[in-house]
Amino acid sequence: MADISGIFNRVKGGYGRLAKSLHPALTLPPLRVTFEVTYRCNLSCPFCFQEFAREQSPDFKKNFELSNEEILAAVDELPRHTLITFNGGEVFVRKDFPDLLRAIKARGRRCNIVTNGTMLFADKAELLVDQSSVLSAGVSIDGIGETHDLIRRLPGAFERTVENLRGLSAYRRRRGRRFPVVDVKTVITSQNLEQLSEIYLLARDIGADYLTLSCLRTSELLFALPCRSSMADGAWREAPLPLSEPVDLDLLRAQLENLHRLAAAAKPALRFYPDYGEIPGIIKYYANEGTLEDYELCRAPWTNIRVAPNGDVYPCLAYRMGNIREQRLLQIWKGRALDQFRAELDRQLLPACMGCCFLKAKPGITYQAAHTCAQAFLVAQ
Ligand SMILES: C[S@@+](CC[C@H](N)C(=O)[O-])C[C@H]1O[C@@H](n2cnc3c(N)ncnc32)[C@H](O)[C@@H]1O
Ligand code: SF4
Ligand code: SF4
Repeated sequence: MADISGIFNRVKGGYGRLAKSLHPALTLPPLRVTFEVTYRCNLSCPFCFQEFAREQSPDFKKNFELSNEEILAAVDELPRHTLITFNGGEVFVRKDFPDLLRAIKARGRRCNIVTNGTMLFADKAELLVDQSSVLSAGVSIDGIGETHDLIRRLPGAFERTVENLRGLSAYRRRRGRRFPVVDVKTVITSQNLEQLSEIYLLARDIGADYLTLSCLRTSELLFALPCRSSMADGAWREAPLPLSEPVDLDLLRAQLENLHRLAAAAKPALRFYPDYGEIPGIIKYYANEGTLEDYELCRAPWTNIRVAPNGDVYPCLAYRMGNIREQRLLQIWKGRALDQFRAELDRQLLPACMGCCFLKAKPGITYQAAHTCAQAFLVAQ
């Protein structure tokens, strides 16, 4: 099967280079818009900053969420080449989410979704395979058995998610369809380090197309809402908290080497967020010694934009650029606030970018741990 992720990344690279080279007045439309349809969730994973947002801010209660009509009106503004992603919170907590997916298909548009998979029952498999135009379904699995349940803080979550994923994969096969591709998503933490290869083999057994491993983010500004109103607060100049729970870097290296060996032979394809072509960059990050110099300049704010459940628009760091209830999405995209944000990023990454999944590591990062059983530190959970 064609590597749609690789194709999208190449298009994104070229599009981003072109968009960034143009005068702000000529800004190209976004290549990808992510709608976070809700911050409500049936789980409460300790590393997920959205829990704070939904508990603390009335803006993210159900009543304030954008309706399907509001989301679709924003989608209708966008050119056909713009890819839509639906994320959360947990998208399937919204009872009207299946209607949104059907409406996207009826418009002849395509989308991606990310879900924790606990509610991806047979009816949702039919929805995704037959009644929607979902290209990729990202489903989080953070460990095997109890490890996943502990991280996801729901007994039985592992069994349910795996059973649902097997069901989706089998149904897709029975229907002879290529889409949605299944992307198993795992955040690397001290709790699942020993199981990374097992997670890979599970993903293979399920019939997943990708395994995406994400580095644990600690920046409050990365997808942590409510949005701040102005960059004048200077929070973007602060580096995120260091990772603060011990990780055996030798074990991490051994696991990563094994994952590369496994992925060289067959599916699923392996991806890393940030995009690390080589292992040392990841070890350096988990040793708390990563620096912004390890990464290329970022073009994401010229290609991507996010819409929070209350309509707030933010580029990536949680600064409010506008709200789609007050202004059209494309107006916000071409507005002064985003121009200023992009201007900050024109020649440098920002300290708060550290850990962001959009980062792309430069080739040739070297890292030598100070001693053989080096310990790094992950966020205390
Ligand atoms: C915010 S969740 C929303 C979708 C869905 N509820 C889920 O868990 O897959 C999207 C992805 O972000 C990941 N994530 C959450 N907090 C993170 C963090 N601090 N660092 C890295 N990834 C994180 C989740 O594991 C999940 O794969
Ligand atoms: S399931 Fe997803 S949205 Fe819900 S708490 Fe966990 S990471 Fe956050
Ligand atoms: S690396 Fe920085 S600028 Fe790029 S998407 Fe992430 S937070 Fe935004």
